[in-house]
Amino acid sequence: MNDFIPPYPKRHLKALGPIDTLKYARRDLLSIWDENAFDRQFMSIKIINKMIFIANHPDIVRHVFLTNNANYEKKSQLMRKALAPLLGEGLFISDGDIWKKHREMETPMFSTEQVAKYSEVMIKTTEERVQQWSQIPADSLIHVLPQMGQLTAEIICRTLFGNQLGAEQAAQVVKSFAEYQSLIEQMDINTFFGLPSWIPGLNAGKATKAAKAIHAIVDKVIEEGEKSGNSDTLLAHFLKYQSHTVTANTLTREQIRNELIVLFMAGHETTANTLAWAWYLISQCPDVEQRLHEEVDAVFGNRSATFTDVSKLTYTRAIIEETMRLYPPVPILSREASADDTIRKRLVPAGSIMLVVPWLLHRHKQFWDKPDHFIPERFLPDAPTKPDRFTYIPFSIGPRVCIGKYFGLVETTLCLAILARHFRLRVPEGQTVSHECRLTLRPKDNLPMQITPR
Ligand code: HEM
Repeated sequence: MNDFIPPYPKRHLKALGPIDTLKYARRDLLSIWDENAFDRQFMSIKIINKMIFIANHPDIVRHVFLTNNANYEKKSQLMRKALAPLLGEGLFISDGDIWKKHREMETPMFSTEQVAKYSEVMIKTTEERVQQWSQIPADSLIHVLPQMGQLTAEIICRTLFGNQLGAEQAAQVVKSFAEYQSLIEQMDINTFFGLPSWIPGLNAGKATKAAKAIHAIVDKVIEEGEKSGNSDTLLAHFLKYQSHTVTANTLTREQIRNELIVLFMAGHETTANTLAWAWYLISQCPDVEQRLHEEVDAVFGNRSATFTDVSKLTYTRAIIEETMRLYPPVPILSREASADDTIRKRLVPAGSIMLVVPWLLHRHKQFWDKPDHFIPERFLPDAPTKPDRFTYIPFSIGPRVCIGKYFGLVETTLCLAILARHFRLRVPEGQTVSHECRLTLRPKDNLPMQITPR
């Protein structure tokens, strides 16, 4: 077992006060924590009259996301406001009956059986990347984060729309999303804590314009998809529900478009960040790399990957899970309490913000042995203890758990295994790696690494 401790931001000796919390959070949401935060179970801070609670124990996470989920279903008001121009009442930001109806309609689209079908797209798209990487001279630098971003964006685009989305249109979709996202990411950090913010108003015009551009592209793609009659895409599943009138079992064209946009938005950056971090972590641990190589060589031999291989890639999957423990792609989950609640004998007033922070829970001193070490073995099926369901939550948990959890796990496992079968990536001598944390957690500066064929 290796002793590698990957970098993490400096922890303060004492908890920061409200002003310093905001100051640090503006730069980096992971830099606000003190050492004790990784040992405490329930915390709170008052910032400008707003109570912010932090659920940092599995029992409280269970309460917030499962037992009393109805009270914490809502994303913060400003988060909803920021994403509404793009997503309308799409899954990510909706709640109540609309969320329930759409969630029930979409859940079967992400069943094991369906993901098995989508895995063909994952495999084919990754094999195309193997071909492209084979043309790159040995030891060249590649930017791993955008490489993984293009790969996962292509996979989700093809899964959603099939092949009729040409390379050019796909690139246009990706570019428009990146633009919208950068507008959202400029949102004042106050938004995150549910505090009054001036930036969403300032950017509303630009955001609406960017959203309209995306709507136009996706509308066109839907029209083409409808004509093509391709029945294997996620779009085809949605079109079965299409109707001009809204009933319990139908969706309008606009609602379908919004849900497709949600899936695109939620379905590629998280997986790209996970893969990029995994490459970095593997490159620092020769024993992990060797075990990965042994597994992929034994499972694939000289043939193409298949969906049934996924269950045999236990070490690859353990690397992915350990990567998401150390660098959870969504490191902070934020909710608004609808009504008063009591937790650990403390009043949580209606309107408070409840934060569940995978970044803290995944490195909590009471629940993990060597919490800051990279040890994939803890996720192997025969590991002596299993991580607790409410302590390890990269996909969240409860009714609002990520709908693409299985899709994302299969995708990252297959992508890493197929690429690692052929290539090795190395961090150049003297280069340091650090993180950037906005709404998601990713390696900073695009993670340049040297590529060599195996
Ligand atoms: C490594 C990959 C992924 C990670 C770590 C991840 C993580 C998450 C998390 C933490 C949430 C909850 C957010 C919150 O409550 O504020 C979420 C929600 C969601 N994710 Fe993922 N996700 C991943 C991949 C995917 C993929 C591949 C898709 C779709 C193809 C997807 C679609 C969604 C959707 C639609 C929601 C909203 C669900 C709802 O509110 O009902 N995700 N994801």
